[in-house]
Amino acid sequence: MDNKQQRQIILTGDRPTGRLHLGHYVGSLKRRVALQNSGKFDEINILIADDQALTDNADNPGKIRDNIINVVLDYLSAGLDPKITTICVQSQLPALHALTFYYMNMVTTARLSRNPTVKAEMALRGFEDEGLPVGFFAYPISQAADITAFDATLVPVGEDQLPMIEQTREIVEKFNRTYGETLVLPKAMIPENAVERRLPGIDGKAKMSKSLGNCIYLSDDSKTIKKQVNGKMFTDPTHLRIEDPGHTEGNVVFTYLDAFATDDHFREFLPDYANLEEMKEHYRRGGLGDGTCKKFLINVLDETLAPIRAERARWEADIDSVYDIIRAGTELAQERTGKVLARVQKAMRIDYFADRRIIKEWEELLKKQH
Ligand code: TRP
Repeated sequence: MDNKQQRQIILTGDRPTGRLHLGHYVGSLKRRVALQNSGKFDEINILIADDQALTDNADNPGKIRDNIINVVLDYLSAGLDPKITTICVQSQLPALHALTFYYMNMVTTARLSRNPTVKAEMALRGFEDEGLPVGFFAYPISQAADITAFDATLVPVGEDQLPMIEQTREIVEKFNRTYGETLVLPKAMIPENAVERRLPGIDGKAKMSKSLGNCIYLSDDSKTIKKQVNGKMFTDPTHLRIEDPGHTEGNVVFTYLDAFATDDHFREFLPDYANLEEMKEHYRRGGLGDGTCKKFLINVLDETLAPIRAERARWEADIDSVYDIIRAGTELAQERTGKVLARVQKAMRIDYFADRRIIKEWEELLKKQH
């Protein structure tokens, strides 16, 4: 739709398959909070994509149910404000299911098979051998429904989601060509720098993932952070003695410091250096021990997570209110997505019971047939 004054609407979401970790925090949560607080958007909607999570967890709906509360708690404790941001649950939005069904007719199986994210995930989940559930294969279509059902103009996502937004744009263009200008064409927004795009796991290898056990969760306590950093983070294998020159590139402790350390942290915990650059120079020169670096990182992470942890504890003691927040958010989302579905059905002229003109048309048709 080409409104003269396009409303600025954000839609994004997460699959509720586990607690959120530092990778989610630097890659998306932090920016969502900043976008929320910028005051530049008419609507911000965040979808807990439980239906999408079921496409590869159909045998374990309990896991998805459990993690809805974990994900909402992580949102609220990281600073998403339900007075500004609408938090809603996908499975309770029937308009999304209807839109998915219509969009299925606008996408070929050949096109879906070419989606690189689907291909990678298929391999990861062993669907290549076991056979591919249709629901999983089609989830990019349901994601297009998520996005368009809110008339989203902007979709902040990780880089791995770009093929989904591309697919959505194709569906929008095809729909509008077929039925007239109806759907809003969304844009993706991805993180600006490499650390935000992909924070490595604490083992330094892959991205953070629960199955690899290389995560630090937003809800982890100080003791766990310390254990994870000391136990699982490798530094520079050539930095054997403190006096040896060290490498900061590819050194996961420094990657994490890049992502989290501020000059304030130096003032508070490591006043020998004014900032990270000075610290890195010393490490490269030799004479700065890995123990000191790790201890500083533990302090930085703990300081970053302490307020989030405190907020979480507050919300955990009041699950009644959290329940009311997602119920109210979902009700508002039902209204928003219901309007878009009605517009879509009208464009397709399958809104039979919203428009009595059809009676006349049927009568005319029958006259001609006789
Ligand atoms: N596919 C996204 C992920 O795995 C989650 C998601 C579902 C989403 N629906 C969405 C993201 C709509 C953006 C917009 O992270």
